Amino acid sequence: MFQKIRYRLFVSNLFVFALVLFGSAFVVRFVFVRNLQEQLTNQLIALAQAAEASIEFDQGYLESETKFSPQQLTEQQQTFQWFDSQGHLLEQQGDLAYIPTLPLATDRIVQTQTDGISLQIVTLPILKGDSKQLIGYIRVSQSLKEIDETISRLDRGLIAGALVAIILSSLGGGWLNRQAMQPIESSFARLKQFTADAAHELRSPLMAISTNAEVALTYDEEMRASDREKFKAIASASDQMSGLTENLLLLARTDKISDFEFKKIALTTLLKDLVNLYCPQAKAKQIEFKAEIASNLWLMGDETKLVRAFTNLIQNALRYTPTKGKIAIIANRIGREIEIMVTDTGIGIASEHLDLVFERLWRADRSRSYYEGGAGLGLAITKVIVHNHGGTITVTSQLEVGSCFVVYLPASAIVNTSI
Ligand SMILES: Nc1ncnc2c1ncn2[C@@H]1O[C@H](COP(=O)(O)OP(=O)(O)O)[C@@H](O)[C@H]1O
Ligand SMILES: [Mg+2]
Repeated sequence: MFQKIRYRLFVSNLFVFALVLFGSAFVVRFVFVRNLQEQLTNQLIALAQAAEASIEFDQGYLESETKFSPQQLTEQQQTFQWFDSQGHLLEQQGDLAYIPTLPLATDRIVQTQTDGISLQIVTLPILKGDSKQLIGYIRVSQSLKEIDETISRLDRGLIAGALVAIILSSLGGGWLNRQAMQPIESSFARLKQFTADAAHELRSPLMAISTNAEVALTYDEEMRASDREKFKAIASASDQMSGLTENLLLLARTDKISDFEFKKIALTTLLKDLVNLYCPQAKAKQIEFKAEIASNLWLMGDETKLVRAFTNLIQNALRYTPTKGKIAIIANRIGREIEIMVTDTGIGIASEHLDLVFERLWRADRSRSYYEGGAGLGLAITKVIVHNHGGTITVTSQLEVGSCFVVYLPASAIVNTSI
């Protein structure tokens, strides 16, 4: 049980941590890339403005100054282009491997060209004189290769960092989980021990009450009728309490796998014996009791515990199926497993209660007296027994239609004995 809680805690911790980690990595990357691009744009604008100063306006024609050497100002992978006011290219300088092929876009200051080579492009209009007459454009572009490399280095760093953080957090998380669960586990173990001890201690006084009541009832000639009824009530109540304490004790002990005595068991015989045992009870309730049990079903298990598990299922089916209903037990070997189905046409279980039926002390109808059913421990005991045999138990049910409990147990190799 705690193994499952620990695992769930571990997985959900890791999931939340990974979510936070990837969320923050994404934000860091986004801000970093935005900053890089802004920085580059500002740098290109500054370069364009510097280049603009080198423009000469000679009798209505645009001429770039030969003195202007972009190489002094710029790094590699940058290109300068001068256009006239009609957008005709007049001159270009710089790293000519990175010449933009995009048409001149005068309405946008920043463009990016991504087919083939990625470029960041800044275009500035050149205005002359006080009248601010448009005489041309200057376009500065730079390859995004370096930025892309920086970003992919950042990506690699982030991924490596995230992986290391996840590995460390799963190691740390596992340790923290163990620390957190330890006190809960030990207090649960103490509680279980207390239940077992209390149930054990209650056995003898209950036995004494029950025996005395029965002895009194055996010699009841001189007893008043009203006293006889009281003694009967005492005997019945002490029987119920004995049953409950036995179940509590069994549950407290059944949780420990060390209390199981595993040996090779003929499940076919075990189930057939149980069917024979409960046939009269079914007949008395006019219930059709069908059994289809395959021969040669063998498994490693604790016989008394398995008898208990299947008894609980059969008793429930008998208890919660009205007269003239049907009950069937079908057992088959499927691959390496044995499938045992206990179906009935009884009152059924509401779908919202299906998960609860295996809980300790849970009963669908709490108003019913203990005597009519049990104390709600039967299925909890069955589940623990099945789990301790390495098996699983599931239930499907529909109100007023019936229920089907399916148990899967690991089978042993077939033995050559016919049973
Ligand atoms: N075959 C069944 N049909 C309908 N309801 C069932 C069946 N088996 C179990 N239940 C429901 O599940 C509850 C828990 O079962 P169980 O643990 O055996 O306790 P109980 O001691 O009440 O039989 C029962 O009280 C009943 O409401
Ligand atoms: Mg029961």
